[in-house]
Amino acid sequence: MSDRFRVAVVGATGVVGTTMRALLSERKFPASEIVPFASARSAGRELDGVPVRPLIDGVDLEGFDVALFSAGAGVSREWAPRFVAAGATVIDNSSAFRRDPDIPLVVSDVNPHALEGHSGLIANPNCSTMQMVVALAPIHRAAAIERLVVATYQSVSGTGKRAIDELEAQARATLNGSEMPAPEVYPEPIAFNVIGAAGSFADGDDHTDEERKMMFETRKILEDESIGVAVTCVRVPVRVGHSLAVNLQTREPLSAEQATELLSSAPGLVVEDVPTPLRSAGHDEVFVGRIRRDESHPRGLSMFVVGDNLRKGAATNAIQIAELLVGDRELLAGDRGAARAA
Ligand SMILES: NC(=O)c1ccc[n+]([C@@H]2O[C@H](COP(=O)([O-])OP(=O)(O)OC[C@H]3O[C@@H](n4cnc5c(N)ncnc54)[C@H](OP(=O)(O)O)[C@@H]3O)[C@@H](O)[C@H]2O)c1
Repeated sequence: MSDRFRVAVVGATGVVGTTMRALLSERKFPASEIVPFASARSAGRELDGVPVRPLIDGVDLEGFDVALFSAGAGVSREWAPRFVAAGATVIDNSSAFRRDPDIPLVVSDVNPHALEGHSGLIANPNCSTMQMVVALAPIHRAAAIERLVVATYQSVSGTGKRAIDELEAQARATLNGSEMPAPEVYPEPIAFNVIGAAGSFADGDDHTDEERKMMFETRKILEDESIGVAVTCVRVPVRVGHSLAVNLQTREPLSAEQATELLSSAPGLVVEDVPTPLRSAGHDEVFVGRIRRDESHPRGLSMFVVGDNLRKGAATNAIQIAELLVGDRELLAGDRGAARAA
């Protein structure tokens, strides 16, 4: 049996897909072939010397071991099951399957055990949740988190390539003394501004979809439905790197010094005084700082968590999951392997 794997990258022309392709090479993923897929708009393009395959009826999906999806929830709903049916294990970056109780929602350093017995589809969490739970998991294991109050400061790359272009065009126009182009991606200008509601509102809901994702996904990944989560998601004019101001209370006492010690030795985390998105960009780790006692509560702690949303918030975690899978063929096959063996 070959020890190299055929990999499909779906959404390969986007900001997450581009980061995925770079990381597969940077991390020396044991790929025999990496095939880029995107929309019909990208037909004729080549990426890393390989023609992009448009996802249209009749496209060849056979023979992939792993498919990394980052092309939006609609594309995932339609095409991920087709890749699974053709034999691939899909790791999906969109929100399409995260709420399905039968589909594991995995952060490689937090709940890799959830991969066992998967049925071909694995969900990668939302970027802000991903970064936050890497920092929360060691605290939750030691002292059981009872409640979280979080404000995010999310960069525009979290919305994709068009949003980066929008920030840059608005900033350039302002600095050149011209009129700012009208916003298209966000409801308000994002350059030199802050938008106090990141994501969109479903009918009648007073929380955005980003906020709902953080509330739901935090509990699913930490496997504790009792955790209270209050969250405000905010969009800021930062290119790459999401930041989160996190206030939490634990059920058991935990001092700021103990929390700092726990986080200093936790996988995937770097403790520093005041992390910033600019410094986090290009790194796979999550950075945590400002760890301090919340003087308003006997078991309260506050901290500031920062990470590269395109890396650990999306591509790095997806590839870390793929690395776990290809390191163990039974794990890669999931319950399909068990079905074959039975
Ligand atoms: N950005 C982040 O920080 C982040 C973090 C976690 C998860 N995600 C998720 O990752 C996904 C992609 O995000 P992104 O930021 O990379 O967006 P993006 O830069 O806008 O890229 C979108 C990608 O999807 C492809 N695509 C769009 N419609 C398609 C279709 N009908 N068929 C096939 N391919 C299609 C695009 O191909 P064309 O170039 O051909 O249009 C492009 O490759 C989203 O589900 C997002 O929620 C993003």
